[in-house]
Amino acid sequence: MGELTWSRAADDTVVADGLLAAFGESFGGEPDGVWAAPGRVNLIGEHTDYNQGFCLPLALAHRTYVAVRSRDDGGLRIGSRQAPDRTWEGTVTEVSQDSPGGWASYVAGVAAVLAEQVDPAGLGADVLVDGYVPLGAGLSSSAALSCSAALAWAELVPGLAGVDRAELAAACVRAENEYAGAATGGMDQSVSLRAVDEHALLIDCRDFSLTPVAWTLPGHQVLVIDTRAHHSLADGQYGKRRATCERAAATLGVGSLRDVGVDDLEVALATLGEGHGERSDEGSGASGERRVSGEPEEVRRVRHVVTENARVLDLVAALRERDADRVGELMLASHASLRDDYEVSCRELDLAVAAAVGAGALGARMTGGGFGGSAIALVEEAAVEEVARAVAAAFDDAGLERPHFLTAVPSAPAYRVR
Ligand code: GLA
Repeated sequence: MGELTWSRAADDTVVADGLLAAFGESFGGEPDGVWAAPGRVNLIGEHTDYNQGFCLPLALAHRTYVAVRSRDDGGLRIGSRQAPDRTWEGTVTEVSQDSPGGWASYVAGVAAVLAEQVDPAGLGADVLVDGYVPLGAGLSSSAALSCSAALAWAELVPGLAGVDRAELAAACVRAENEYAGAATGGMDQSVSLRAVDEHALLIDCRDFSLTPVAWTLPGHQVLVIDTRAHHSLADGQYGKRRATCERAAATLGVGSLRDVGVDDLEVALATLGEGHGERSDEGSGASGERRVSGEPEEVRRVRHVVTENARVLDLVAALRERDADRVGELMLASHASLRDDYEVSCRELDLAVAAAVGAGALGARMTGGGFGGSAIALVEEAAVEEVARAVAAAFDDAGLERPHFLTAVPSAPAYRVR
C-alpha cells in the first residue's frame, strides 16, 4: 500500500510570514495584523443545533488565517492565497446575497452584518486569506473563514470594541445564512470563536451557553477520516431536514424539538405517526444498510434529534468517568441514528465507520452535516496508523478514492497571530 495522506496543521509563524509577503504583493504595504480561527469536528450532537439542542464539538489545530488592513473609505478587497487570480473588489454597502458570491461572501457577509452596528465606511478593509482547514471536508473551513475575519474587524474597528465573542459568532451565522446562502445552525461559529484549548465544548444551542469538557481520555486519539466525497444531489437536504423538524415541533405544540425529552418520545412519536401511512418520498440520496422503513419521515427525524440530545449528555458523563468504551458505543449509536433515522450518511461514511471499527476503533461516526465529508473514530494512540491503513485499504477494495486523514487535537479558539 502506498503512503497515506495526512493533513497537517500549519505553523503560525510560517503562515504569518508568508501572508505578510503575499499581502505586499497583492495590495502593497503591510496589514494591520494577522488573525486565525479554527475548523472543528463535532464529537457528538449532529443536526441538533438548529433544534436548540446540545452538541459537543472541539476546535481543530487546523486554522484559516487572514491578514487584514482596515480602510476608512468602505472599500473591500478580498483575496486568497488559494485563489490568487480571484481577488474581489467592491464596497461594504454593495455586499448582497448575490455579490460577491463564493468563498469571498463568507468575509464580505460579516462586514455587511457588522455594518448594521457601525458606520460601513469604517469596515472597509484589504483582506488576504490563507486556509489550512481541509476544504469541503465537513470540518467548517467556511466558519473558520468568517470567524477569523470577524475577530479582525472586532479588534480593528473602535465602534466594535464592546462586541463579545458570542455576538460575533451570531454575526457570522447571519453572514453565512443571509449573504453566503449557507444554512447553518451556529455550532461551527460558536466553537471556532469560543472553544477552550484542550477541551471539547458542550454547547446548549437554546441560548448558546457553553460548558468546557476536559478531554479526559489519555492514550486515545480522535482520528478524522476525510472521505473526500461530496454528494451534490444532497444539496438542499439540510434545509429539508430543518423544515421537517420545524413542522414536527409545530405539530407537537412545542417551540423546538429541544422541548421533547426521551421520556416524552413515545407519546410524541405516536402523535406524529397518527394519520400517516407509508414512509414519505423525501428521498435522501443516502445509502448504507437502512434498518428502519415504513415509518413516517417525521417520526424518524424526531427520534434522531431527541435521542441524539440524550447521547450528547451521556457522552459528556462518560468522558468525565474516563469511560472510553462507553464513548465509543455512543458514537456508534449516533452514527446508526444519523444513517437510519436522519438519513444523512452515505456509502463512503458508512464504509469509513465500519472499516475503522473493524480495525479496532472503539467507536466511529460521521461528523458534520453529512452526505460526504468526514467521519471520526476513537482510537488508541498506538493504533492510529493501523486503523488509518485499514480504512484506506477498505476504500481501495471498494474502488473509491482514498480518504485523507488528520488527528483532532482539541485546540484554541480564534486569536490574533500578530
Ligand atoms: C453543518 C452546520 C451545523 C450543524 C451540522 C450538523 O455543519 O453548519 O450548524 O447543523 O451541519 O450537526
